[in-house]
Amino acid sequence: MSIVFDSFSDWIQQLPKWRGWLQLSPARPYMHAEEAYDIQYGLTAPEVGEGQGLCALLQTHRVDTTGPALEIGCGSGYLTYGLARHYPGPDLLITDPSPAFLRLTQRQFDGASDFAACRHYAVLNADDLHLLPTGMFSVIALRSTLHHILKVDDFIAACARILRPSGALIMGAEPCESGYLLMAAVAQSIPNALKAAGVDMLPAWTERLNDFTDTVKFCCLRDIEKATAEDKHFFSPHQLAGLGAAHGLQLQFFPTASFRDFAPPYIHSFHCFSNSFLIYLQYCMSFPVDFMTLIRVHLKDQLRFIDECHRSHPGPDITGVFLFKKLPS
Ligand SMILES: C[S@@+](CC[C@H](N)C(=O)[O-])C[C@H]1O[C@@H](n2cnc3c(N)ncnc32)[C@H](O)[C@@H]1O
Repeated sequence: MSIVFDSFSDWIQQLPKWRGWLQLSPARPYMHAEEAYDIQYGLTAPEVGEGQGLCALLQTHRVDTTGPALEIGCGSGYLTYGLARHYPGPDLLITDPSPAFLRLTQRQFDGASDFAACRHYAVLNADDLHLLPTGMFSVIALRSTLHHILKVDDFIAACARILRPSGALIMGAEPCESGYLLMAAVAQSIPNALKAAGVDMLPAWTERLNDFTDTVKFCCLRDIEKATAEDKHFFSPHQLAGLGAAHGLQLQFFPTASFRDFAPPYIHSFHCFSNSFLIYLQYCMSFPVDFMTLIRVHLKDQLRFIDECHRSHPGPDITGVFLFKKLPS
């Protein structure tokens, strides 16, 4: 049962504070070093396009943006910066369970001005959305965060409750089950492909490969306990569409899209399966460079086959943008 507040400012004014941030949940560090996050992805400057593209998508789909927006799992601020610059509503509540991530995001705004929305920061774990007032937010935005949230059904139901009619839950860079399973199946054939070429797997390569395929299997499974894992789930658009529909949220799915595809210069950032597969193994799964060189040569035919099957339409779905619009009451 949630208490009703007349306004966003009335609500945040009575919240407890911790280290200068609003506190809705106990702080919880990320399972990997937060300070190394941007380095791993080669990020050196604030990113505007992701948040700008998200806001363009909201406008195109006539989402109500007159109320506050909530970002969940801001991380180092990859989505936040552009969102703060382009969100037309009055307030942006930027949240993460990790204090180190909140600090990194806040630091992005040092010395910067000219932001429309007023920024607020809170320690928030998405499992605690029951603490947020009903009908408070116009927009709930996530990037690469849903797959960390334990109870996805409860999360979608809670988002539907705290959204205003004609508002939206919008999520990008979430892993899609079919695309990841295909990546793992191709990856499992690497040792045989190398063996056929007379190359023995090094123990370090086997360790990285097993880490990847074990993670894929873990995230696909739906009958195991996942509370203590950082990466938990993969999704399918039809599964999420069903969950949304059960709570009055209508899903539009944009396969293989990133938020920034909807901002100038409107370039689709997904090129093809092989490109995404190779980038993922190298940068997200830290496959060594010498291993990657061999994979590029000896998996060429398999990868080309998959690219050819999708030569005139986007796919396979490794990721995409999920826009859930709350139906008007
Ligand atoms: C892969 S990072 C993505 C960060 C950022 N959104 C981006 O796109 O770079 C996942 C983020 O989700 C946050 N997170 C993990 N579990 C969460 C939870 N249960 N509730 C809210 N955020 C969570 C992490 O602290 C981290 O900031």
